[in-house]
Amino acid sequence: MLFADFVLLGALTSSSLALYIPSIQDAQKLLAQAPLHSSTALETWLQDEENISVDRLLANIAPFGRNAQGAAAGTVLASLSREHPNYYYQWIRDAAITMSTVIDLYNSDPSSYQSTDVILPTLESYAELSRRIQRTSNPSGDFTWPDLSGLGEPKFEVDGSPFTGNWGRPQRDGPALRASALMAYMQAYNTTHPGLWQSSNDDWFQNLYKAELPAHSVIKADLEYTARHWPDSGFDVWEEVQGRHFFTGMAQLRALRQGSNLAQLFQDPGAAAYYQVEADKLEQSMRKDFWDEEGGYIRATRGSDAEWQRSGMDCSVLLGSLHGQAADQTWPAVFPPHDDAVLASLLKLVTDQRDRFPVNAGSQDADPLRGVGIGRYPEDMYDGYEAKPAGGNPWFLCTSSVSEILYRTAAHLNQTGRLDFSSRGASFWNALVCGGKPASSHCPLPASKSSYSYTAADDTNVFETALERLVQVGDSFLDVVKTHANADGALSEQFDRYHGFERGATDLTWSYGAFLQAVRARKDVV
Ligand SMILES: *[C@@H]1O[C@H](CO)[C@@H](O)[C@H](O)[C@H]1NC(C)=O
Ligand SMILES: *[C@@H]1O[C@H](CO)[C@@H](O)[C@H](O)[C@H]1NC(C)=O
Ligand SMILES: *[C@@H]1O[C@H](CO)[C@@H](O)[C@H](O)[C@H]1NC(C)=O
Repeated sequence: MLFADFVLLGALTSSSLALYIPSIQDAQKLLAQAPLHSSTALETWLQDEENISVDRLLANIAPFGRNAQGAAAGTVLASLSREHPNYYYQWIRDAAITMSTVIDLYNSDPSSYQSTDVILPTLESYAELSRRIQRTSNPSGDFTWPDLSGLGEPKFEVDGSPFTGNWGRPQRDGPALRASALMAYMQAYNTTHPGLWQSSNDDWFQNLYKAELPAHSVIKADLEYTARHWPDSGFDVWEEVQGRHFFTGMAQLRALRQGSNLAQLFQDPGAAAYYQVEADKLEQSMRKDFWDEEGGYIRATRGSDAEWQRSGMDCSVLLGSLHGQAADQTWPAVFPPHDDAVLASLLKLVTDQRDRFPVNAGSQDADPLRGVGIGRYPEDMYDGYEAKPAGGNPWFLCTSSVSEILYRTAAHLNQTGRLDFSSRGASFWNALVCGGKPASSHCPLPASKSSYSYTAADDTNVFETALERLVQVGDSFLDVVKTHANADGALSEQFDRYHGFERGATDLTWSYGAFLQAVRARKDVV
């Protein structure tokens, strides 16, 4: 790792700079600021780190992972750290998110040795272990239908037995994320094994989804739990606050929408209708409950006793947007990465974190969206080992997720050929295109209350500038990951707010997964 007084504007390679008309001089200046790291240096590092991340992520998954020997087959270790802090468990959430990344790896090259001989048997084990864990009584409850309360248990010992200590339970995102991962697995397998799907009665498929109760096969159990319990409060993704959470709701909504389609395929119309109705209600709630009009951002939690103690700005909002979408989504996206509310929330969080952490210090008049280290939320006290005032630090997975949101937004612009936004998004787009300067003749993006629309064909060049800047700014956040990663490519949970060196749980599996997802999103636009 290098010390952290860096300037983080990736190089702009486009030759189209010369074509910009004077009305966006400010953006031109931003784009032209001399980069400290050339984009080839970043590019090279990204390729190396991608391999390292795949290797280290798989190393944490039993039965093949070299660091997961002794864990039950299909277990995803959250981290290798066994004390100070002890993360040597399987979290339902972390495991499902990691498996989604593993399925993407499979899809990217299904015939490789890694896919056929490592990933497929690992996924098979994960599905089996999930079934066993679902049916294991634990401090959150058991597998009695219809409550299925034991599915809300957030973490298990690495041999699959229940963790019985005090904890923030239940957590209601786990079953939804697991259902989505298993549905993605089913779809990936179905695609590479054509002919296997003769009918919904095939054994391989029935093992994952079966219409009849009380069998409630592994995916259906998670969907039933989600459909029944989404209105209930539970602990958040950071395991600290009880209430209803944006991240949890987004994960649940995705699972229910996908689940409804799946139930249809398995001739389970009652379940399909039930998931659909609950998804519609949940979607309505998501749209109206979390946006804070006064603050101008999405709040992470509602209905918590601690709501007044927190701003509600939170990296989990970005994670919720990312994990709330499926690649093949056939329903209208709710809060996708390019949504004005999501981008406004991103800008608020970035601005807060930039000024909060000394390691993020940079020149005063620099780009308001220059890459900086992003932590979980402003009031965070957890320093990776214990909670103490002003203990919070930037996290790798949050920093990578900012990049992923920006790359996905760039992909959306590229696909649609349009940049449309309303007053909610004006602050973000102004910061992106005009560097946050007040509207002037130099910048056509005033942050006033109306809607805007630009296309690739407009002679304002706003669209092209926005598209290039999304990638450039996305790169500047990955450059922060690069700066603070260990020399050997290892990623822990956090990096220190003062000196920038890694701290907290070592080899955090989710740090690798979030990095890989950002790199994958980048490949869609670079
Ligand atoms: C990454 O791994 C792939 C496959 O193992 C290999 O072909 C490629 O050369 C590696 N890239 C780097 C930069 O090490
Ligand atoms: C499996 O793929 C076939 C097409 O090959 C499709 O008709 C079927 O719906 C798919 N099943 C699932 C569960 O995705
Ligand atoms: C989207 O990307 C493709 C491939 O890079 C490019 O040819 C196309 O012009 C882009 N579309 C827009 C609207 O920028």
